Amino acid sequence: MARKPTNYWDYLRLEELQGLQGGLERDDTALTNDEVLFIVVHQVDELWFKLAIRELVSVRDLFRKVPVPEQSLASAVRGVRRLELLFHQIGGQFALMETMTTRDYLGFRDKLSPASGFQSAQLREVEILFGLGSEERIPLGGEKSYIDALKHADGRESHASKAVAARLEDRPSVLEVVDDWIYRTPIQGSRPEDEGDDEVVGRFVEAFITAHASEVKAFLDNARANANNDEEYALLERRYQAQLASSASFLRAEDVEVSDGDSAPRLRTRRVRAALTFIESYRELPLLAWPREVLDSLVALEQAFLIFRQRHARMVERMIGRRTGTGGSAGVDYLDSTALKYRVFRELWAVRSLLLRQDALPALENAATYGFVAGD
Ligand code: HEM
Repeated sequence: MARKPTNYWDYLRLEELQGLQGGLERDDTALTNDEVLFIVVHQVDELWFKLAIRELVSVRDLFRKVPVPEQSLASAVRGVRRLELLFHQIGGQFALMETMTTRDYLGFRDKLSPASGFQSAQLREVEILFGLGSEERIPLGGEKSYIDALKHADGRESHASKAVAARLEDRPSVLEVVDDWIYRTPIQGSRPEDEGDDEVVGRFVEAFITAHASEVKAFLDNARANANNDEEYALLERRYQAQLASSASFLRAEDVEVSDGDSAPRLRTRRVRAALTFIESYRELPLLAWPREVLDSLVALEQAFLIFRQRHARMVERMIGRRTGTGGSAGVDYLDSTALKYRVFRELWAVRSLLLRQDALPALENAATYGFVAGD
């Protein structure tokens, strides 16, 4: 039987879509242009969040496989780049919102209370999928937890609270699967299951710290020769030595406690950090080229997400100054602290502080493990 011709408006369900901007009045002709803009921008952003959740689930599922098939890394990078662009897109819409004046926003703001973007279940799902832990969350203010804020005012579960509760059950997060995948990276040709792997990783870490120390020494020798006075040099020396000490401690994972003589958690973290450093340092090796792109795309994604948070905060400050939010938070102060404190891929950012130029790197061992053929 012949298929009924498709209409543009049927396929996109435009009649239903265009009937959804009426706000509490259920009638957009009763609203100002500013309020319709406010509704449309939020709705469009929620649609982008919907797409972001799908992409994050796909990326998570790619990394969930053990081992991760080499050929999926290019798809993972494509998915993460799409996510990055999505968050830039969402952040870009705030400029449109800024065409509304404070006075005009105040014209309809009261009827929103106590609703707030704080009740966006999809943004919470995005954060949970990334790997932001509930214990890391900044309180909104008042007694409510972020989960309670998603319930109906009388405490009943809502569509939003149920969606977030289901997502909390939906483990693992992107952070967890990526961490496991990085952990399995061969370091100087050695894999975690190989005998003597801890020693190989330990040697690489110490060689890297020694190379870093030589770089700092060369820099400080030069700085001493060029310093205007002793005080200026002493300050610089303190800074560089402190940075070196903190890099060494980070690579040795000294921040991870060894309780009851169990060093396994520390060795695991040390291996992850060494692997990140290794991938970034020897990225020309064929087996490491795509992993390095994956790591870079994740940093770019988190950067886009942070810019989205900051851009929202600046738009809010311009719109309502420092007053309390409709959701009851400290408003801009709350939003700024989320932009400052919510970091998921912390280790990926942290290794940036200790990477070295190519010719200062420790000698590479077992290059053949990485598909490297001499003369390439
Ligand atoms: C006039 C425009 C806007 C103003 C004045 C505004 C204001 C605020 C304020 C003050 C908060 C803090 C929570 C509270 O106390 O309410 C907040 C949170 C939030 N807003 Fe907006 N907002 C605006 C537009 C938007 C748009 C267009 C989006 C689209 C995505 C959005 C998404 C969010 C989200 C997701 C949160 C929760 C952030 C978090 O908890 O990390 N907002 N907003």
